Amino acid sequence: MNESVGVRADPVADRIVHLTQLEPLAEERLAGPTWDYVAGGAADEHTLEDNVAGWSRIKLAPHTLVDVSHIDTTTTLLGHALAHPILIAPTARHTAYHPDGEAATIRGAKAAEALYVQSSLGGTGLTEVADAARSADQPWWFQLYIQRDRDWTQELVERAVAAGATGLAVTVDTPTLGARDRDKRDNLGAAAGAFYPILDGAPVLPDATPAHRRIYNPHLSPNITWADLEWLVEISPVPVIPKGILRADDAHRAVDLGAAAVMVSNHGARNLDTVPATVDALPGIVSRVSDRVPVIVDGGIRRGTDVAKALCLGATAVMIGRPVIWGLATYGERGVTHVVEMLRTEFEMAMALLGAPRLRDLGPDLLWANQP
Ligand code: FNR
Ligand code: LAC
Repeated sequence: MNESVGVRADPVADRIVHLTQLEPLAEERLAGPTWDYVAGGAADEHTLEDNVAGWSRIKLAPHTLVDVSHIDTTTTLLGHALAHPILIAPTARHTAYHPDGEAATIRGAKAAEALYVQSSLGGTGLTEVADAARSADQPWWFQLYIQRDRDWTQELVERAVAAGATGLAVTVDTPTLGARDRDKRDNLGAAAGAFYPILDGAPVLPDATPAHRRIYNPHLSPNITWADLEWLVEISPVPVIPKGILRADDAHRAVDLGAAAVMVSNHGARNLDTVPATVDALPGIVSRVSDRVPVIVDGGIRRGTDVAKALCLGATAVMIGRPVIWGLATYGERGVTHVVEMLRTEFEMAMALLGAPRLRDLGPDLLWANQP
């Protein structure tokens, strides 16, 4: 963190008008290993770039002469009535980006009417998360990293639900972290030795492997299988949503095992480089399971047209990760709110210009590739 660069006051007064305008400001504020941790992707970062570029590859085919004087972005998702389909993805360590940490993100989410997903690796403990969410009357899901000790994991699930979580996003694409070269060059910089209060007390196996040869991570369990997903569905009192699915056969199997929805994600391109951009994985999963469960997608979503394209491709909702951190780091809770509101405004504009005043009007016929 570059303490000489303070948190700014008002993104509207500063004429912050689109999400990526915040990226360099966040880089200036976070600086060094913390910025590397936030910005970095795995290996050569091919997928990191493709996650964003992929959305621009999709061309739109707007209808004309449609009355778009009233735009309705409301939807429902697993029992939640949402003002719009933009969720805040679970990202670790918000206290590293702003002194108020996840509590600020939660307040920012509330002001932006966005469903919030709390990371297992948050910088704030579950009690404080629960207090902040309760004070803000903010709905939230818990993102779970299944721990090596399954009894401890079950107790964590019970604590998260007791704290108010109404959904369980179980991350299934991270048996370990990917080749995070930026972090390694920082000698594991920001992530090394970080304290994760929510996982405090989780039994971890010591790893005597020299750091430069290590592939496993003490906070991640490399032995999670489909039986664990089945077990979670059985023990969880709230809907279980696997996060990190790219294959249609995996999505199908997850839904057969009781997944209430599927999150199409490549973890912000932070794990396995040269997997497809999530926009490219989305259609196959939609055609396989969207008749049974909602499909949520994240990765590289930076413009309102990206949100519109995701829904035209069959997603029910999208999540954003890094842009929320950019907003939190630069303007605190106001920054979080502004990020979601800028994206929501662009999305509403895209709906109007597409001739699609309601979410159900966003369909495949608005994608140019489907033009006869
Ligand atoms: C993440 N992500 C993530 N995912 C998860 O399941 N648990 C976690 O703790 C984290 N932590 C995390 C930290 C940081 C700094 C980033 C950038 C990402 C992945 C996140 O939930 C989401 O999948 C991606 O961030 C979405 O891509 P964009 O919007 O960042 O491009
Ligand atoms: C990451 C892990 C913490 O992407 O999810 O950094």
